[in-house]
Amino acid sequence: MKFFIDTANMEEIKEAHSWGILSGVTTNPSLVAKENNISFHDRLKEITELVDGSVSAEVIALDAEGMIKEGRELAQIAPNITVKVPMTPEGLKAVSIFSKEGIKTNVTLIFSANQALLAARAGATYVSPFLGRLDDIGHDGLKLIDQISDIFAIHGIETEIIAASIRHPQHITEAALKGAHIATVPFKVLNQLFKHPLTDKGIEAFLADWKNRTGK
Ligand code: E4P
Repeated sequence: MKFFIDTANMEEIKEAHSWGILSGVTTNPSLVAKENNISFHDRLKEITELVDGSVSAEVIALDAEGMIKEGRELAQIAPNITVKVPMTPEGLKAVSIFSKEGIKTNVTLIFSANQALLAARAGATYVSPFLGRLDDIGHDGLKLIDQISDIFAIHGIETEIIAASIRHPQHITEAALKGAHIATVPFKVLNQLFKHPLTDKGIEAFLADWKNRTGK
């Protein structure tokens, strides 16, 4: 499973990129709205210049015609832009057009296996099932990853699964075990993945032993 970062914040993207683990970036209108005084297009340009992999940029229009217009403009920013489209009939109309034009797509707001199957059949490059938001309403987000992963394997579907709406490190381990190709992860959770008390304790002990031996 590969890691994308789920943010529009440049400092967070730069830091995660420097760790050598980053295969892409996802943004959404809420994440972009958190960034003060930035032009959406300028920020996307900046991200695509730093990160080689897929950079998802979401359309705002709700009708297919508007989404196609916005998506084509976004795709002009850089070759690694992926147009993010909501899971609606109009969204899938746009996805099928983008697919024919060779524009990569990420169908977002997936909450059922049937939605994922529809998106894949419309030609989506990626589907984004939202784990955390399902857990929030008492459903099992990870079960959805399991179902989509099985269905795509049974039917030889090449659309990649992005585990989204990640809330904690356990989501990452389980999504990887259940066959998600990618997890798009907030910066806070990426940092949590490094942490283990025995790692910290081990470093402390190594340094203490070294100091005892060398006095440094
Ligand atoms: C990613 O593509 C999604 O926009 C994101 O993971 C949503 O996460 P949230 O449910 O924490 O807003």
